Amino acid sequence: MKHFLDIHTTDPKDLHGIIDQAKLMKQARQGRPKGMTDDDQPLAGRMVALIFEKPSTRTRVSFDVGVRQMGGQSMVLSGKDMQLGHGETIADTARVMSRYVDLIMIRTFDETVLQEMAEYASVPVINGLTDRSHPCQIMADIQTYEEHRGSIKGKKVVWAGDGNNVCASFLHAAAQFGFDLTFTGPAQLDPEEEYVGLARKAGSKVVIERDAFKAVEGADLVVADTWVSMHDSQSSKERRHNMLRPYQVNDELMSHAKSDALFMHCLPAHREEEVTSSVMDGPQSVIFDEAENRLHAQKAVMRWCLGV
Ligand code: CP
Repeated sequence: MKHFLDIHTTDPKDLHGIIDQAKLMKQARQGRPKGMTDDDQPLAGRMVALIFEKPSTRTRVSFDVGVRQMGGQSMVLSGKDMQLGHGETIADTARVMSRYVDLIMIRTFDETVLQEMAEYASVPVINGLTDRSHPCQIMADIQTYEEHRGSIKGKKVVWAGDGNNVCASFLHAAAQFGFDLTFTGPAQLDPEEEYVGLARKAGSKVVIERDAFKAVEGADLVVADTWVSMHDSQSSKERRHNMLRPYQVNDELMSHAKSDALFMHCLPAHREEEVTSSVMDGPQSVIFDEAENRLHAQKAVMRWCLGV
């Protein structure tokens, strides 16, 4: 059973293979009329369940479109409208869903929900984001970096802001793809020590630097994310904003990175908070390529899971 639960739990060779396939599938569609690509329809006759316990635009639409482009069918389910949201166990839900569908993608809060789903499902399960990680996003980000600048191996990635679930998946990827990661943010929002240790053990240089300007020196890629994630309480918003303000990615900060550094953000962004519009819409920004590559990367993830 090939679940796609996290980047650090997936074989690096498989990760590279997924990204190579994503690039090929993207190239195959470019310049061709809609409906004339994915000719082999690898998901024909397959049904994919997309379960959301949190809001989503990119993940929802890109998975749905990806399944259809590959000839499959998808159903988008809201966790709160399922019995899952009304006391049915995750294990029972997983066993029942496995009798109907060929693949399950779930976006949830607690990582243990994803893990239990994978343990009891007899079909592959994909992590569409938990409070702790967001692997599909980072697969798209690696694809995006490589399309613009070649291999990410040995490059310096700087994460500015909150050491959240997306940052965690960047640390997992640092270990698997061999890049270095500098985190710059307040100590209260440092990334999980376990994941910092994992990347360091794999040979990646992981630096914690409180001074954002020092952090971005020599950066090949600067990454920002929202200051208040979906699992953070709204009551913490003001405190988080006060702590994170020095880590805003703006033109001045970008000018301290390498002149050809890229800027990424998984979106949705809060313009003029964690990043200015001048950076988001500027020449170093690849944010909409990242969003597009969610589609291509996840198509390749689904094919890998199903072996098709
Ligand atoms: N980046 C991302 O996962 O976007 P959505 O929350 O819109 O799916």
